[in-house]
Amino acid sequence: MIYVNEQNKEFHLTNGQISYVFRVMEETNILEQLYYGSAIQHYESFDFMIEREIRPSNNWKWGSHLTSFEHIKQEFPVFGSSDFREPAIDIEYPAGDHISHFEFQHYTIRAGKTVDGGLPGSFGGEQEVETLAIVLKDLYSELYVTLHYHLYLNLPIVTRQQVIDNRGNETVVINRIHSLSLDIPDSGYDWIHLDGAWARETIMARDKIHSGIQNVSSTRGASSHVHNPFLAICEETTTNSQGNAYGFSLIYSGNFLAQIEKDTYNVLRIQLGINPHQFRWKLDAGTQFQTPEAIIVFSQAGLNSMSQSFHQFFSTHVIRSPWKKKEKPILINNWEATYFDFTEERLLEIAQASKRMGIEMFVLDDGWFGSRNNDNGSLGNWQPDYKKLPNGIQGISQKIHDLGLKFGLWFEPEMVSKDTAIYLDHPEWVIGNAEKNRSHGRNQFVLDFGNPEVVEAIFEQVNRVLATAEIEYIKVDMNRYLSEVYSAILPADQQGEVAHRYILGVYRFFEKIIANYPDLLIESCAGGGARFDPGMLYYSPQIWTSDDTDAVERLKIQTGASLVYPLTAISSHVSAVPNHQVGRVTSLEMRKNVALFGTFGYELNPLALSNEEQAQIAKQIAQYKRYQQLINLGTFYRLETESANFVSWLVINEEKTEALVGFYQILAEPNSPYRRIKLAGLDETKDYQVYENDQLKEAKRNGSDLQSYGIRLGGNFIGREQEYWSRELPGDFHSKLYFLKAIEMASK
Ligand code: GLA
Repeated sequence: MIYVNEQNKEFHLTNGQISYVFRVMEETNILEQLYYGSAIQHYESFDFMIEREIRPSNNWKWGSHLTSFEHIKQEFPVFGSSDFREPAIDIEYPAGDHISHFEFQHYTIRAGKTVDGGLPGSFGGEQEVETLAIVLKDLYSELYVTLHYHLYLNLPIVTRQQVIDNRGNETVVINRIHSLSLDIPDSGYDWIHLDGAWARETIMARDKIHSGIQNVSSTRGASSHVHNPFLAICEETTTNSQGNAYGFSLIYSGNFLAQIEKDTYNVLRIQLGINPHQFRWKLDAGTQFQTPEAIIVFSQAGLNSMSQSFHQFFSTHVIRSPWKKKEKPILINNWEATYFDFTEERLLEIAQASKRMGIEMFVLDDGWFGSRNNDNGSLGNWQPDYKKLPNGIQGISQKIHDLGLKFGLWFEPEMVSKDTAIYLDHPEWVIGNAEKNRSHGRNQFVLDFGNPEVVEAIFEQVNRVLATAEIEYIKVDMNRYLSEVYSAILPADQQGEVAHRYILGVYRFFEKIIANYPDLLIESCAGGGARFDPGMLYYSPQIWTSDDTDAVERLKIQTGASLVYPLTAISSHVSAVPNHQVGRVTSLEMRKNVALFGTFGYELNPLALSNEEQAQIAKQIAQYKRYQQLINLGTFYRLETESANFVSWLVINEEKTEALVGFYQILAEPNSPYRRIKLAGLDETKDYQVYENDQLKEAKRNGSDLQSYGIRLGGNFIGREQEYWSRELPGDFHSKLYFLKAIEMASK
């Protein structure tokens, strides 16, 4: 529901879960923010929320009663006012000044939301989302900004997006335009962000918010392994299960900034948008610029509830793929099994053994094209390597299908190697200034996807492969960042546009693939999780989470990813031991129990496994298939993330009749205290049967005591060796999988 108090020019967006209130400010006609948080009742006037104290600082105008803008919560702060905090917009006008004053003009309200303008975004039907569009005009020019507020009616979510329109006769330059700027009062908050590096992405970090500016960002041309376009603020006492939390996320895959500025009056200015660093967009007369869309989630019930809102939102309103809720085929990927060293015969042997274990799809990773026997060349030459694959992709795909498996293929469309025709024929297609150094990254360069010709040429090559072979799945990779950012096709005064134009080109490429192959299952990837972001989810329902496939490392990585992203998006594979990234040896059981909480698959050579191990995998697959719908559609809870040694996760169906619990111990402890796993999300009026690894463990436990007492782990240790080893959690890297079934269902 969007209320407008016409008299006072106040806007109140509320859906019973959240309220967002702002107004048009007296004298200045700019937008003043009043409230964002849990739902409050509607008032005819919100003037009791207006904060005006005389402060010794600049005023708006001589004689004005308004105090400095620095002390007023702003909805769309500008540079060139008496607000000295970071602005949401910075425009360079023809005279060289940056002074703007965006005044309220009019508003419209409409139902429903579609996505347009070349950027990914959220969508919803007329019953699902209401949109308030506020049009502002710069006092000094013919620049208009429309602020779009999309209120999702069944979720505690508002999204924000701005469009700037130059209706004047002169070019201006946009130095920054954020997607969101929100001023939140009160102190004592922590902030949460996802940090990392290659092979250790999305590690959750929680810090105190201090005075001044703190942020996470990317300048790498991709959202990056290092940070994620997400941040949350929460009270110091907020945990997974209780307390207020505000989550912010950006539907964008390029250079972003997610920032908190705590001012000297304890107001937090939260901003998300394209990173202003190295961004400079020439907005010619008669043109528009659209920002990415930002998402604001509010939770009164802790971080799990915040995550669940994000999950539901992405699953329903961002991911488009027809695969999003379907049971995806269980795949085997040959990367860690063979790397570049394979023949068709070897691949078929792997596929055959995989089929025997119950695997449903074979994915051929890097190394099938050009003469790519290592990572030195051939990117950009998407012709099959007939030495390895005598009958090309069509031939191997046919043979894989004959075995009864689906077929998937890897591409890295944005990249080029020096030994290819496109590199030699089109040096101007490569990002960088040919007169200066262009850094190699994994021996490759980045193609200028901001140039539509490049996108077209690469799409043609990829399309030739997709059109001639039966391919149900593609993995679209991107293995290096953009450095020395420069485009040969843009003039000097538009070089600040290269990174944003690049990501728009990447989106255009994905859009073309989807338009031509609407049922294709797409996994996006960027050297692991360097583009694990909501922008990519709009094009691909699943993302390769990390090149680190070690089960213990994945506990941290997948826990962090789950803060924002649904399990169906989190690709996770069981790989070989010793693990290829860290050398750790964990049991097949542990590896399966971790990979299960995601889009499940295998990435190992079954021919290198014993018969017993192959039989164990066959059982794992059968087990996963029983739980696949529950994992895909269920509600996810992080039960235990505080301790570094234990992790537990739970997923429960909507009816609360079935739940799956994973418990993981990293290192064994001697003489350890009793441990209990306290569950969450159960129905306290229901009794449950508890199965441990498919065996009945407890015949009848009530939902309430499973939550407050929990499942008890561990036996009574009294020190003798045999009793030590008979304990429930013997040794390092141990896991358990519990399945709960409500008793009225159990008899069916
Ligand atoms: C990246 C991906 C891997 C694999 C390799 C192939 O690192 O993340 O999964 O596809 O590229 O070169």
